[in-house]
Amino acid sequence: MKILLLGNGGREHALAWKIAQSPRVDRLFIAPGNPGTAEVGENVDIEVNDFVRLKDFVITNGIEMVVVGPEDPLVNGIYDAFKNDPQTAHIAVIGPSKSGARLEGSKDFAKAFMQRHGIPTANHRTINHQLHDEERSFIASLTPPYVLKADGLCAGKGVLILPTWTEAQAALDEMLDGKFGKASSQVVIEEFLDGIECSVFVLTDGKHYLILPEAKDYKRIGEHDTGLNTGGMGSVSPVPFATKEWMQKVEERIIRPTIDGLSEEGIDYKGFIFFGLINVKGNPMVIEYNCRMGDPETETVMLRLKSDIVDLFEGVAQGDLDRREIVFDDRAAVCVMLVSGGYPQQYAKGHPITGLDQVCESIVFHSGTAVKGGQLVTNGGRVIAVSSYGKDKDEALQKSFTAAEKIHFEGKYFRSDIGKDL
Ligand code: AMP
Ligand code: GLY
Repeated sequence: MKILLLGNGGREHALAWKIAQSPRVDRLFIAPGNPGTAEVGENVDIEVNDFVRLKDFVITNGIEMVVVGPEDPLVNGIYDAFKNDPQTAHIAVIGPSKSGARLEGSKDFAKAFMQRHGIPTANHRTINHQLHDEERSFIASLTPPYVLKADGLCAGKGVLILPTWTEAQAALDEMLDGKFGKASSQVVIEEFLDGIECSVFVLTDGKHYLILPEAKDYKRIGEHDTGLNTGGMGSVSPVPFATKEWMQKVEERIIRPTIDGLSEEGIDYKGFIFFGLINVKGNPMVIEYNCRMGDPETETVMLRLKSDIVDLFEGVAQGDLDRREIVFDDRAAVCVMLVSGGYPQQYAKGHPITGLDQVCESIVFHSGTAVKGGQLVTNGGRVIAVSSYGKDKDEALQKSFTAAEKIHFEGKYFRSDIGKDL
């Protein structure tokens, strides 16, 4: 089979690494890819939202399956663009329809969906313009801090958590005034939930689903979860508090009602669902949905997936996922992200990266790298994801930290406390 994978981050390098291991794959293309994906497949210089050129490429090259990494093209309707065109309708697109991608593309839609289907999540109101009396009394009933979320996609920057209502009100006004453009023309205000977070992933054909290994992500830039939010500084799988009993609650209260709800509402969904969960006194609640895999969670989840991922994707496309088998690797997997100095704020690009050839016990996934004049250089905030297996997380972390010390670029920073809280 010929497969085209879309995206260019560490998540896509990890997906490409896993897809390339399948005996079913004849050729794997990645658009646009990065220097890491070029080691396991063939990069194609087309942007993920350029549906016209992507369709052309797919038709010309006889691609049979398109796997979508990031949320943007899904929210923009790539699934529908392929399905509604007779020339590409036969191609399997792994990723939800535009309607399904609203689970991530609109916080207001996601909250209302959860309400309709009795899925546990923080109470909320959606504010469009001026505050009405009912909304004021809802806000008055909240205990600080205040959680504000821009309705639309904001590249992970649309959630603000503020200690006082005075600050929250000012932030709300700024958001409604266009701080995040159209994405914050509506703002969700919700209860603050106190607990520890866990990412749970499901692959669904719209009717059946398989639960992938769960992972914990480390979002803050600083040690001990301090400082600004990032795209993710590392991840660990399995997650000790995600016991069999807890995962059973997740499946009964959250996963099954979500899949059934999508199907009842006639929403076409064939792809990944990422449940951002929080454990509140032993009970899982949904913080957010994403319509794709997580980054850097994929860089551990793919290590723990033993099954042939292309077989699972075929199950998604053919609607017989219930007949496919998912097998986990019993070992632990961790990922430590090496980032550019200054990230998640201003940082430089173009610094030479060395030492990758010294890494022997870890798997190196490229996040933000480029090749300039034959030299591998930094090309993003998150630069390299160092993933490792271990008999337990501590052994795996030891390997990733050892590798992290061997890789060099100016301004390199990583969190040395990944996994230490578990
Ligand atoms: P989101 O983009 O919705 O995942 O939010 C980003 C981060 O903000 C989450 O990973 C949480 O750490 C935090 N967060 C979001 N919503 C809440 C909430 N209701 N209570 C506490 N923390 C939250
Ligand atoms: N690691 C969080 C995300 O991918 O959104």
